[in-house]
Amino acid sequence: MSDKADVAVSYDIDNEFFRLWLDKRMSYTCAVFDDTDDLDEAQQAKLGVMYDFARVTSASRVLDIGCGWGANLEYLVHDRNVAEVHGITLSEAQHAEIVRRGLPRVTASCVDYADYRPGVRFDAIISICMIEHLCSAEDFREGRAAAKYADYFRRAWEWAEPGTHFGLQTILRDRVPRAREDIREIRWVSRKIFPGGLAPRPEDIMSAAAPYWEVKQMRTRRTDYQRTCAEWQARLRRNEALVRQRWGNQLFTDYDRYLTGCVNGFARRHMSLAQWSLQRIDDAA
Ligand SMILES: C[S@@+](CC[C@H](N)C(=O)[O-])C[C@H]1O[C@@H](n2cnc3c(N)ncnc32)[C@H](O)[C@@H]1O
Repeated sequence: MSDKADVAVSYDIDNEFFRLWLDKRMSYTCAVFDDTDDLDEAQQAKLGVMYDFARVTSASRVLDIGCGWGANLEYLVHDRNVAEVHGITLSEAQHAEIVRRGLPRVTASCVDYADYRPGVRFDAIISICMIEHLCSAEDFREGRAAAKYADYFRRAWEWAEPGTHFGLQTILRDRVPRAREDIREIRWVSRKIFPGGLAPRPEDIMSAAAPYWEVKQMRTRRTDYQRTCAEWQARLRRNEALVRQRWGNQLFTDYDRYLTGCVNGFARRHMSLAQWSLQRIDDAA
């Protein structure tokens, strides 16, 4: 599991660094290129899928678990006029960015989801690629994965009103990498860029969610994530001189290597991406 120090390695480098190569709202997850070639529009389309999967309406009270720099919070109140939106992140830098945006009807907390005690219940939940931080490779080897994923779905269930829908997006482990070079790069990314993290397998999600949440829909978007990473890398490379000058050569080298690994990982099917629409099982527990 990624603790607060691990999350700081992944997200607290400098908000201005990420602003250079992410889309304008700073989504740091797979975009949806169904109807566009433009990254800003594709990220908006992804947030639209999550909005639909969580059955959000303008009257909703929404929780975003692992809300990043606030892209989805901003989308919900600006583009969808949602009544009440709350986000949680474990990153101090991300929380500072959300506060800086001064979004109406939005509150955000910098807190570990396991310590989160909302005073209200939510009628829509969205969580976009946060679950990858819940279980490390070591947790998986030591048999702790199932309990960690179950804890996440149980807490989300407790925070939700009866009937709530949950829009969930997750990277998935897919084919087992065999080439030594691929294994080396995957290990390097999880040590250097996302310490404490590991993408789940679809069956991990299915079995952990099952007591609390019914899977209503699931679709994969492997090539969308390949494309998103390629777009991020192109933007990073366009800013190479600035990144090297402002943050040093090593940061550019590391992020270029990591994004190369992601593009290859999705292209070679070692990783995929899934979007899920879940509905609360009201007579659970
Ligand atoms: C890959 S980012 C995705 C951010 C955002 N959902 C997006 O689409 O850009 C993962 C997010 O999960 C958050 N996170 C990781 N572990 C967490 C934890 N234990 N409790 C709360 N948030 C956590 C990180 O702080 C980060 O905001």
